[in-house]
Amino acid sequence: MTAEPGTIPEPSGPVRVRVRVPAKINLHLSVGPRRDDGFHGLATVYQAISLYDELTAEDADDLTLTVRGEGAEDLPTGRRNLAVAAARALAGRLGVPPRVRLTLTKRIPAAAGLAGGSADAAAALVACDALWQAGLSRAALEEIAAGLGSDVPFLVGGGTALGTGRGEAVSPVLATGRWHWVVAVADGELSTPTVYAELDRLRDAGEQPVESAAGPADRVLAALRGQDPRALAGALANDLAPAALSLRPALRRTLAAGTEEGALAALVSGSGPTCLFLAATREAAAGLAARLAGHGVCRTLHLAHGPVPGARLTD
Ligand code: C5P
Repeated sequence: MTAEPGTIPEPSGPVRVRVRVPAKINLHLSVGPRRDDGFHGLATVYQAISLYDELTAEDADDLTLTVRGEGAEDLPTGRRNLAVAAARALAGRLGVPPRVRLTLTKRIPAAAGLAGGSADAAAALVACDALWQAGLSRAALEEIAAGLGSDVPFLVGGGTALGTGRGEAVSPVLATGRWHWVVAVADGELSTPTVYAELDRLRDAGEQPVESAAGPADRVLAALRGQDPRALAGALANDLAPAALSLRPALRRTLAAGTEEGALAALVSGSGPTCLFLAATREAAAGLAARLAGHGVCRTLHLAHGPVPGARLTD
């Protein structure tokens, strides 16, 4: 029997979706010379870690964003917010009006070298793609993501990946096992362009090699396959670290405190000022974090593991 016309409900999409998105760290960050477009050519190994922002996207008449959580009062809620920019970019690509109410719960600090803003852009792409039932492929989302920021394509996929170009060209990397990190968030922020500009200044002044000091990523890639935290500890490298330390000399104390307390490795996360410590096990990471708390060398400490998936729907 067929139903009377008009009695079949219109197929309708979800009215509300929720996405969880991780922070990123760079296990290897090799920075080439400044390019003509102002960006630097990179070879980087990204890893997504279990420190998450959450974004809810709901049907609405227009585009709004509410932010709560870590540093919410200092974040823009208009077009300068990357989640808003991402929703607009996706709507533009689909040729639909950007009608969505976004609610963001921050745990990843902004301007901390953890790609907190980029994570929110990746979350908004995945959330709006689901809300608007666009069904875009991961490749299509990554293409839009590349227009929003160098780290955004990685945070769509997550895991562990090699990033080239300005960081936006990502390909997955085989990483077995689970890596344990203590994430030491510093007081205050460091702006990414300022840190890159400081690296250029140090290079121009002859205080840093003009070519990458970190070199190729081979050792990190081999260590990731081998599941040996000590091998990974010896291979971690970040060309932005001297620039971040030049702008924030106090980070040397943070790194030294981690090493003193038994971290297998201590490194600046991306452009900083967050510092990362590698531990052999979750228990070792918890002990390290507890001891580090007594040093007063950072604002907050988080335990995290990686790799974890990128921006994903949670209900
Ligand atoms: O791509 P994203 O918006 O995150 O970049 C922010 C800034 O960081 C750029 O405007 C540029 O100054 C610097 N940057 C760079 N080289 C890269 C990535 C970022 O110089 N590969």
